This record gives sequence, C-alpha cells and structure tokens, in this order.
Amino acid sequence: MATIGKDLQMAADILSANELIAIPTETVYGLAANAYSPQAVAKVFQTKNRPSFNPLILHTCDLQRVQQFVREIPAKAELLAREFWPGPLTMLFYKKTVVPDIVTAGLPRVAVRIPQHPVTLQLLQRLSFPLAAPSANPFGYISPTRPEHVNAQLGGKIKYILDGGPCQVGIESTIVGFEGDQVVIYRLGGLSLEAIEKVVGEVEKLPHSSSQPQSPGMLKSHYAPGKKVVIGNIEQLLSKFGNQQVATLSLQKSFSDLPAGHQVILSPEGDLQEAAAGLFEALRYLDNLPITHIFAEPMPDHGLGRAINDRLKRAAAE
Ligand code: TXA
Ligand code: MG
Repeated sequence: MATIGKDLQMAADILSANELIAIPTETVYGLAANAYSPQAVAKVFQTKNRPSFNPLILHTCDLQRVQQFVREIPAKAELLAREFWPGPLTMLFYKKTVVPDIVTAGLPRVAVRIPQHPVTLQLLQRLSFPLAAPSANPFGYISPTRPEHVNAQLGGKIKYILDGGPCQVGIESTIVGFEGDQVVIYRLGGLSLEAIEKVVGEVEKLPHSSSQPQSPGMLKSHYAPGKKVVIGNIEQLLSKFGNQQVATLSLQKSFSDLPAGHQVILSPEGDLQEAAAGLFEALRYLDNLPITHIFAEPMPDHGLGRAINDRLKRAAAE
C-alpha cells in the first residue's frame, strides 16, 4: 500500500526523481508525473493501463507558467482563465516543443488546467515543471475522490498519496477547445455550460463529447460481471424487474420497498453540486453491494446535472 500523507517536500522529491505520486484536486485525485520527462509520463500510462493514444492534462499553478509551454492563448481562453482558474476547467492550446509528444499522444494541442486545491497549488509552486496527471484510477474504472480510493486500486503501484481530503467538486473538469472564435466543449464536467456561456457566449457542444470516446462505459469495463447500470424512471424499473437484487441511485427520492442500504440519495435538497460531489463515491459503494442491477434516475438537464448524466450514461454503456 502507498503512504497517505501531507509531506509536500517528500511529494516534490519523488516527482523530481521522475516517479509517480497521487495528488488531490477539487475534481478528482490525479496520478501525477513530471510532464517534461517522457520516462516519467510513460509510467503514468503503464500504471493506469491507459492506451497511449489517450492524451493527458498538464497541471500548473499560474498563467505565466502556462505561457512557458503553450504557443498562444486565444482571447476567449484568457477570459475563461481569469474567471475560472484555479478551477474545474481544462483548456486545449497548441503546445510548444518542451511538452513531450507522449503527453499529447502526438496531438498538436495540449490540455491544461490550474486546479483549485491549496495542497496541490503549494506543491506546484515548489516544482520547476508542470504535472501530467490523469485521474488516479485504473483505465476504465471510476475516478477516485478520496485518498483511500486511490490506495484501494493503485496503492500497490505507487509510493505516495498526497492527502487533500475528499474532493469538493467530485467529477472531472470540463474540457474546452477553441476553433477560431468558437468555444467548443470536449467534455462536460465540474464547471457548468451555463457558467461558461455567461463569460464567452454560446458554445458548441461536440455531438459525442465524452472524455474517452474510444472507451464508452468507463465504469463498465471493470464492473463485476453481471452488475449493470440501468438509467430510467426508478419506480417503473422496480415494478418491471422486481427489487430482489437491485439498488437505486436517485437525486432525492427514496423507495419504500427497498432496504435503506440499497438506496443512495445524492442530495436530499436536490442540490446538483452536492450530487456531483458524491456521485463517484456512491457508484463505488453500489458496486460493492451484493446486487445485480443499479437503477439510476437521470438528473435535471442543467448545471452539473448534465455532467452527472454524461457519467451515468457511460456507466450504463455496454
Ligand atoms: O478533473 C480532471 O480533469 C482530472 C484531474 C486529475 O485534473 N483529470 C482527468 O484526466 O480527468 P483524465 O486523463 O482522466 O481525462 C483527461 C481527458 C481525456 O479523456 C483526454 O482524452 C482529454 O482529457 N484530453 C487530453 N488532452 C487532450 C487533447 N490534446 N485533445 C483532446 N482531448 C484531450
Ligand atoms: Mg479519467
């Protein structure tokens, strides 16, 4: 198992030796490596079992540093950066050659984010390089929102997990790119579409904007065989399939025929931010119950509800 601790110097030393650690962010925990070392970055792909065609996000702590490794920051990106960084927003920029090709899987653009987490911001300030960090889960599984989640799955493969407590946002960052004057959404996430549109006007949403188009069902591939996520009206699903070996995931509702331990209510008040913050932990919990099916209701289609629905759909994908 990895050590879970708050030692920033140890964290910095391990990273400077081109080894990996897990870092907290406000969205999910990341599996971090020195982004300027192709060898260190290769270990990220290996440790996660991640296909090499799936590029990584660079994490840094201020805009000056971003300018060291990207060629140009479009005007709208600058507006978004001023409004939302540090925060759950990732932007795509044309990279300078200092960013190794392995980080971007050979693509000309690099994904960049300034995360809003005091511990990781302090760590980044100590380092002379940005951190390449995907979510700290094995490829295809649920992203970790607590240090213990990382330890359960990658603890045998890394030495240190920097402890930043539970993630406050709970789903991965929203990813945007820029085509001329147009802002394009590549992945729905912890920053809502509405918040972005308030700053830059209407955005374009890619028809299949999903973080891993090559791997639909990011949960499914590592789910216990037979455990299936079904999205729909939960009352109807329960009356159709019975309630023998099922559990439910709802925003506010409870269901009288099911034991309380088989029901997760994401936010009794119907707060979508609270729902997002608890989503991945809920899926982990449900995944460990002695059940065959998880019945999940779709969230309202606004704010973070959209990103939650995107993650649920991928959990349900065959
Ligand atoms: O909140 C987050 O974004 C977390 C924390 C750790 O920062 N990170 C995260 O990383 O979710 P990851 O690797 O699990 O997801 C990053 C996504 C991938 O789906 C990848 O395809 C996309 O970002 N991506 C990275 N670089 C890209 C690029 N140059 N063009 C298009 N998509 C890119
Ligand atoms: Mg991921």
